[in-house]
Amino acid sequence: MTSADTATAARVPLTPDDVPGWFWKADQEIFTWLLDRQKAAGTTGDLMELGAYLGRSAILLGRHLQPGETFTVCDLFDSEAPDDENSAEMAMSYRKTLTRQAFETNYLAFHNELPTVIQAPTSVLADGRVAADSCRFVHIDASHLYEHVAGDILVARDVLAKDGIVALDDYRSEHTPGVAAAVWEAVFLLGLKPICLSPEKFYGTWGDEEAAKRELMKRDWLAEGFRMDEEIIAGHTCYRLAWDGPQPTGKTAASSPAPAQRSAARRLALDVLPPIATRAARRAMRAARARGAARG
Ligand SMILES: C[S@@+](CC[C@H](N)C(=O)[O-])C[C@H]1O[C@@H](n2cnc3c(N)ncnc32)[C@H](O)[C@@H]1O
Repeated sequence: MTSADTATAARVPLTPDDVPGWFWKADQEIFTWLLDRQKAAGTTGDLMELGAYLGRSAILLGRHLQPGETFTVCDLFDSEAPDDENSAEMAMSYRKTLTRQAFETNYLAFHNELPTVIQAPTSVLADGRVAADSCRFVHIDASHLYEHVAGDILVARDVLAKDGIVALDDYRSEHTPGVAAAVWEAVFLLGLKPICLSPEKFYGTWGDEEAAKRELMKRDWLAEGFRMDEEIIAGHTCYRLAWDGPQPTGKTAASSPAPAQRSAARRLALDVLPPIATRAARRAMRAARARGAARG
């Protein structure tokens, strides 16, 4: 983190993109789409974020709060971590800039009221203080160590209502193999079903993932500046979405997201074709893949 970021953390931000953090354009759009879709369907329920840092993603989540709903944020902020590994993680990544007061200042620059703040390790949430089946959306972005994330996923499974969505940060980064382990363990052993993947986040549900994917396919993501690809993982079809345009400007704390991988020829073909043609191209690729699999 640079001294410029430290200065930004202390100043009142003018836009959410002025808030340092790791919440990029693709995920801003996917969060918005998922939360708007819930609203359009008349779905109500609380929102929860584990790991808020200086509020960059919390500010967007707070914008989707509907009357009568609660938004709970759990973060250590400037308090002690519960174990040495977590302490080291905090010292390396967040300690220089992070205070609860800075989070609150940033959040209140965009909202009249603070969310319910639990300043504690996310492990305290296992005590049932957030009611079971009460949430429609949970963002897990606190410790990136396996034991912590695995616990956070169990909390999300308990508090999410039917068809609720969980977003899991850093499920595939070089420096976060523990998150990858916890996420795919939840898919294979705990019944978590993937809906879509961005370069930074995994989106899934313990509810009706097919309905979510059907809706997702209705939106023309390519026309809106995304790259999109289909992935079948152990029988789960899900969609990879990556933002293809510039990141919003503003002071951010992290390096640029890694580019999604795709062969240049295939990407060019999909990007230059109109949306209907790209869907047909994807169907053709799927069929070719299935034929290849059948041939062994
Ligand atoms: C990657 S940052 C969150 C980024 C934020 N969601 C954003 O988009 O800008 C991780 C946050 O998790 C918090 N954290 C780390 N370990 C934690 C733990 N065991 N319990 C609660 N919060 C923790 C850190 O204090 C930090 O604010």
